Amino acid sequence: MELLSSWCYDGSLPESYVMPPERRPGNLVVPLEKSIPVIDLQCHDPKDTIQQILKASQDYGFFQVINHGVSEELMDETRNVAEEFHAMPGLDKERECGKDPNGSCKLYTSSYAYPREDFHYWRDAVTHPCRPLDERIQYWPEKPTRYREVVGTYSVEMWKLSCRILEFICEGLGLSVDYFSNDLTQVPKIMINYYPPCPAPSLTLGLSKHCDPTIITILLQGQINGLQVFKDGRWIGVQPLPHAFVVNIGYLLQIISNGKLKGAEHRVVTNSRYARTTICFFVYPRDESLIEPAKALVNASNPAIYKAFKFVDFVTAFVLNPDDTGEAVKELITLNP
Ligand code: OGA
Ligand code: NI
Repeated sequence: MELLSSWCYDGSLPESYVMPPERRPGNLVVPLEKSIPVIDLQCHDPKDTIQQILKASQDYGFFQVINHGVSEELMDETRNVAEEFHAMPGLDKERECGKDPNGSCKLYTSSYAYPREDFHYWRDAVTHPCRPLDERIQYWPEKPTRYREVVGTYSVEMWKLSCRILEFICEGLGLSVDYFSNDLTQVPKIMINYYPPCPAPSLTLGLSKHCDPTIITILLQGQINGLQVFKDGRWIGVQPLPHAFVVNIGYLLQIISNGKLKGAEHRVVTNSRYARTTICFFVYPRDESLIEPAKALVNASNPAIYKAFKFVDFVTAFVLNPDDTGEAVKELITLNP
């Protein structure tokens, strides 16, 4: 496996990145709509904030937050460190990601399934767990020099923000506010994606259509377009807003909410001019956590529409076929008639 960033600047798009016609991004100029809700977290009426979050999570499974309490300086520093990381030589990146004998820090190109892929995606990524921070940070990259300090601070802020958003969601759904203060959220991970400029953006993708296998995801997407959400049969672009975070409902929260909230499908398109670096904070459960529709949301008139399963079994099924939310996942979560 050679990282994309080690060779991609020399010209044409290799055959192995050309998607079959039905999977190509098609018309790249999709509407960059203002319709994906932008929610002000400093708004002084919490009831109103809860309603906005709930509605956005039902209609789109996506929203952006502003006035979220995370400093702009920290957001900018984190993006700088993220860019510096991917700008290092490939061997340095491999060394910096190889500090845990158990391999908790992962560096890859395209997707984690690279050797099994029929074609590849135009991205590199690094990912690692971040809680508890003092146990995890020793395995993170030490280069760029400020990586641990900056990404460590950032991950603590993301943890606080994700807890706050989940509390709003609990109130909106009618769950106890501490519903997620347990194993369901204890294994959050940071992922830094890098999408270099691409010689043929209409033929390939940065990431295929997928739904995150998370509770929620908080994304710092920066200034460059690329993220698209699938809504009512068409793609809409998520407009980059300075210093906003993009929040999306994960597949697991769709299940826990018994289908009330939508784990929205999304993808990433590339562009020929600008490199794009994004930082995801994925909220994951522990492997042994049981995922099922919340008891408080299920009754005779609202029967459960999903089966209970262990998170680890979901991951196994997801890895088999992550594109377009594969059959193995459907089989695991679907109730027998
Ligand atoms: C992801 C993802 C979006 C982006 O990593 O799951 O959807 O814009 N990323 O990088
Ligand atoms: Ni995603």
